[in-house]
Amino acid sequence: MNIAVFGANGQLGRCFRDVSRESTLCYTFYNRDQFDISDPFSFTELNPPDIDVLINCAAYTAVDQAEEDRSTADRINVTGAKMLADFGVLHNIPLIHFSTDYVYGKASEPISEDQEIDPVNYYGQSKWNGEEEIRKSGVSHLIIRTSWLYSEYGHNFVKTMLRLAIQHDKIKVVHDQTGSPTYAQDLARAVDQILRSADDDLELPWGIYNFANHGAITWHRFAVEILKDKAVLVKPIPTSDYPTLAVRPAYSVLDPSKFEHAFGIDIPQWQESLERCMEKI
Ligand SMILES: NC(=O)c1ccc[n+]([C@@H]2O[C@H](COP(=O)([O-])OP(=O)(O)OC[C@H]3O[C@@H](n4cnc5c(N)ncnc54)[C@H](OP(=O)(O)O)[C@@H]3O)[C@@H](O)[C@H]2O)c1
Repeated sequence: MNIAVFGANGQLGRCFRDVSRESTLCYTFYNRDQFDISDPFSFTELNPPDIDVLINCAAYTAVDQAEEDRSTADRINVTGAKMLADFGVLHNIPLIHFSTDYVYGKASEPISEDQEIDPVNYYGQSKWNGEEEIRKSGVSHLIIRTSWLYSEYGHNFVKTMLRLAIQHDKIKVVHDQTGSPTYAQDLARAVDQILRSADDDLELPWGIYNFANHGAITWHRFAVEILKDKAVLVKPIPTSDYPTLAVRPAYSVLDPSKFEHAFGIDIPQWQESLERCMEKI
């Protein structure tokens, strides 16, 4: 099975690169310079008969910047997603796409896929609009909504905490936002596992799924766990003391049970996954 991965230099894309080294599937990776998902001319470079599955790791992920640069967020998260979906429809190639917990409205218990949609910020809105384009296109798709993604690659909370701990002896972290951290390697590995176990006709239970490591924690507790072996004080602060351009949800714990049941994959607890990531870092 031949798989084309776009946005291959982002953190999830780089985790797919790692996974591909031990996979029986044949992956081809395209970074942004090689393939801009929002540029129609990029698509003329692809040879459809050589592709069985499209995986879109490309996205505009600057959550705060998206509030002010809506047109760029739209171009990548909406138009880019639409163009990939249209390419998939035209050539009968399924699309695996990633979205975010930020598409959901207010919640106070683990969020399932049928929870009300009410994006809390423009990044979330653009990701939702991209999802809608994929659904409307009619392409066979998996849309996987994930949250608090981290890995040994790129910019993410775990790496930021480790960097701050070198520079400071005291760090302030918000204690009133609860969510589900997700190790990007777990997500990439799970997608590879789904594709490896698919039949030749690629008959999969297409649709929308949540994917996050199990467990609910606050950013503060997550930081304490990341820095437990470091000589640094992690001080809890309220969100009101850390203003950002984009609103973040106070409670955003994803329930990944639909994914686990559909694909027979057990997703690890966040502590176990964080430990594996810290070993790699
Ligand atoms: N990070 C999170 O906490 C989080 C949470 C929930 C959901 N997600 C979703 O998970 C997916 C993966 O996120 P991530 O953390 O791996 O993001 P990331 O590290 O920001 O990677 C995104 C990649 O997309 C590339 N890209 C941007 N515009 C592009 C374009 N027009 N054409 C091709 N490539 C383009 C970027 O290239 P450059 O490096 O050149 O900019 C970057 O390599 C995304 O769909 C994201 O929305 C992420």
